[in-house]
Amino acid sequence: MAGAMACRGTQADVTIRDARSARRPIRATASGEVGTAGAGGRGVVRGVRQNRPVPVHQITDPDDDRIADYRALTDVELRTRWEPPHGLFIAEGELVLRRALRAGYPARSYLVDAKRVEQIADLDNGDAPVYAATPDVLRQVTGFHVHRGVLASFRRRPQPTAADVLATARRVVILEDVNNHTNLGSIFRAVAGLGVDAVLLSPTCADPLYRRSVRVSMGEVFAVPYATLGPWPDALAEVRAAGFSVLALTPAPDAVPIQHLEPDQRARAALLLGAEGAGLTREAMDGSDVRVVIPMRRGVDSLNVAAATAVACWELGRDDPL
Ligand SMILES: C[S@@+](CC[C@H](N)C(=O)[O-])C[C@H]1O[C@@H](n2cnc3c(N)ncnc32)[C@H](O)[C@@H]1O
Repeated sequence: MAGAMACRGTQADVTIRDARSARRPIRATASGEVGTAGAGGRGVVRGVRQNRPVPVHQITDPDDDRIADYRALTDVELRTRWEPPHGLFIAEGELVLRRALRAGYPARSYLVDAKRVEQIADLDNGDAPVYAATPDVLRQVTGFHVHRGVLASFRRRPQPTAADVLATARRVVILEDVNNHTNLGSIFRAVAGLGVDAVLLSPTCADPLYRRSVRVSMGEVFAVPYATLGPWPDALAEVRAAGFSVLALTPAPDAVPIQHLEPDQRARAALLLGAEGAGLTREAMDGSDVRVVIPMRRGVDSLNVAAATAVACWELGRDDPL
């Protein structure tokens, strides 16, 4: 696979001036977010650097092997087989790649629309090269029209273990076989915003760092710790042994309505959710403490898994101090 992604190279390398003179400086806000500073703002966040020229390597040949990381991005099967073993992932769009940098992921390279180079001119790219190409070359390399105009390839970091995650979390979401990247990204966004500390994934779940998950999560996959939970479903016992109540979310009408959970069931909750279509397996339900339903109206039989996650996270966190 690596061989199939590697091709030949041509280039005309140039240097552009850093665009900070044309932009307002960037500083960290109290929440750790990046915002634009007023006059005199001097703070510097991880991934944002002081004024110096950015070397930009122009790419004119779609087969240039320096941009092999970005090849065939629309081929989900190929990418999911290739990215994790090679320790990389792709971020799309300026906001998302800035979030990855702030979370401490090291960039391998950037690939941008030549007209948008200045958008990332203030980044501390370390040793990561910046490549620029026309929209047509970008499309030929990636397989799609890169309308956000900015891509970056990052190095993955070692994942924590489930035990590490459980040792510090108060509330977690556990997913069984959720292999749709859009749902996964939405779930991470809901988890981050609604007071859940971490996500545990059964071994057959999709990769949270796949490009679409990263984009749909708006970069929250970088903020929420996650780990693989296995062997599945026996490892649910590990979650219970760590002091969590495992709440199996199911649309079954005879399950306990979520708003009627006892205080001790809510105190340290592990919300267990299943995939579209099949839902939770019998074995996973058997590994839980209680089956829980979000009651619905008008005869609707179930919610999308990301919607169900958001509702359940909100319900369990509604009394948290904000
Ligand atoms: C689309 S549903 C799967 C529907 C499947 N036919 C079933 O019976 O579970 C995907 C997941 O979302 C969660 N879910 C969806 N609607 C729910 C509801 N009303 N109450 C609790 N969980 C729900 C469950 O965890 C479910 O496994």
